[in-house]
Amino acid sequence: MSDRLLEVRDLATTFATAGGPLPAVGGVSFDLNQNETLGIVGESGSGKTVLSRTIMGLQPRTNVTVSGSARLNGFEVVGASEEAKRGIWGTEVAMVFQDPMTSLNPVMRIGKQIDEVLRVRLGMDKAAAKARAIELLELVGIPSPVERYRAYPGQLSGGMRQRVVIAIALACSPKLLMADEPTTGLDVTIQAQILNLLDRLKSQLQMSVILVTHDLGVVATRTSRIIVMYAGRVVETGSTRDVFQNHRMPYTRALLESSPKVASHSHTRLQAIPGRPPNLMKLTAGCAFAPRCAYATERCHRERPELTAAEGPGHAFACWNPLPTTRGAS
Ligand SMILES: Nc1ncnc2c1ncn2[C@@H]1O[C@H](COP(=O)(O)OP(=O)(O)O)[C@@H](O)[C@H]1O
Ligand code: SF4
Ligand SMILES: [Mg+2]
Repeated sequence: MSDRLLEVRDLATTFATAGGPLPAVGGVSFDLNQNETLGIVGESGSGKTVLSRTIMGLQPRTNVTVSGSARLNGFEVVGASEEAKRGIWGTEVAMVFQDPMTSLNPVMRIGKQIDEVLRVRLGMDKAAAKARAIELLELVGIPSPVERYRAYPGQLSGGMRQRVVIAIALACSPKLLMADEPTTGLDVTIQAQILNLLDRLKSQLQMSVILVTHDLGVVATRTSRIIVMYAGRVVETGSTRDVFQNHRMPYTRALLESSPKVASHSHTRLQAIPGRPPNLMKLTAGCAFAPRCAYATERCHRERPELTAAEGPGHAFACWNPLPTTRGAS
């Protein structure tokens, strides 16, 4: 049997806006295997959240068109009814968002919020749900879980709240956990703790994880493969090693040089990526990065490069004038 959990093919999400169609995700394809951790990285506005939500089947009901395919453990998410999707939310796939406060109800004790999921989704009775909720709080590393069960979200620190959100996401034992900027806004020590927790849970519970972030430093040691997104498309993908050490697309390098963690390790000076992300409603026929790219030639402005295979396993990049390969150089 194949160990493939998720197959995404030419997935595209376009919003109808007052200013015209906004292609937030413009045809993305990738696969994810069981027990694998995939990083999705890109600047703010590159389409990471819309892609993640589309894979879960969580879009606004109106003003959105989705095409292509996202098959999760054989279930086609694109075009599925709300009712059918409710059947996979929690059990097949669960999502942890950036701001735990928006996922938690501020006026409900955290224990109750976990209980509710267990009772509604798994049909547990009150006592069983409480026991399991306390177990889940313990699993995500919350000290004194019996006491914390009765706490309100506002009585916990940001890091502890994110642990509660993770506990809720784990309640129905999903096969895939999607974490969208799960540590953005938390201080550095707490960030590392949450990322270590996700790592531990992935192995302990044999899940697959998609880690979505604007900061390549976050995915450096925690993913086996990375997808780099720009303007709603994949512009480079490969093993984490290839993306870090043998990237061919200038935007990937720019992202690396703008990551505080990566730049400080490599003693590179931290550099903001010059220029601004493109207006998705005014994309031209060429490479979307061309207006900001130091290597752009006339062809780049005219014709969009497709993903092309590189030397490494699964490594591909979209660029007419790729950076030289470092394979075989060291
Ligand atoms: N509901 C929506 N309606 C219209 N445009 C949207 C909607 N949600 C997101 N977008 C647009 O889609 C693009 C990608 O957004 P997003 O996926 O949130 O980026 P990222 O997560 O990479 O920062 C942005 O230009 C954003 O403004
Ligand atoms: S295709 Fe051209 S503009 Fe785009 S990244 Fe490559 S060199 Fe730069
Ligand atoms: Mg986002």
